[in-house]
Amino acid sequence: MALRRIVTEGDSVLHKRCRAVTSFDARLHQLIDDMRETLAEADGVGLAAPQVGVLRRVVLVLETNVPEGEEPYVIELVNPEIIACEGGQTGPEGCLSVPGRFDLVTRPMDVTVRAQDRDGNYFEVKGHELTARCFCHEVDHLDGIMFTQLSKRMLTEEELESGSWQEELE
Ligand code: NI
Repeated sequence: MALRRIVTEGDSVLHKRCRAVTSFDARLHQLIDDMRETLAEADGVGLAAPQVGVLRRVVLVLETNVPEGEEPYVIELVNPEIIACEGGQTGPEGCLSVPGRFDLVTRPMDVTVRAQDRDGNYFEVKGHELTARCFCHEVDHLDGIMFTQLSKRMLTEEELESGSWQEELE
């Protein structure tokens, strides 16, 4: 495994549409393993292949809704498609490619994704709250869409810390 460099806003690779994965080979496995290491090192909750400069439909999402005492785990999604959404949530959202910036973004509260695993097997997975937000954010990356394009507005560090942004939603 190897760490890959996370590209930041301003790099055109973040605004391109990614191609579907068709070969579930050693090269794909290497990419996914490298992305896992890069995500863990960056302490993030999600990472999309274009963020490491690869225009392929591969994303990782950290499932943090786990029973107490259990560790969050990474979901690997190849060629993911959002097939169902329910409810809504508005809250702070950030991105490893836009360090230090958090915006208010509205997303569904529950999301179902259909994807393939690293060997090409199809599966479905549901995400709630942060995990749902993350599924949407990462799948958007594959279509060159950044969360800043969906922003209601930017949050200041102070607002983020105090949670005062919640008041304007009430
Ligand atoms: Ni991102």
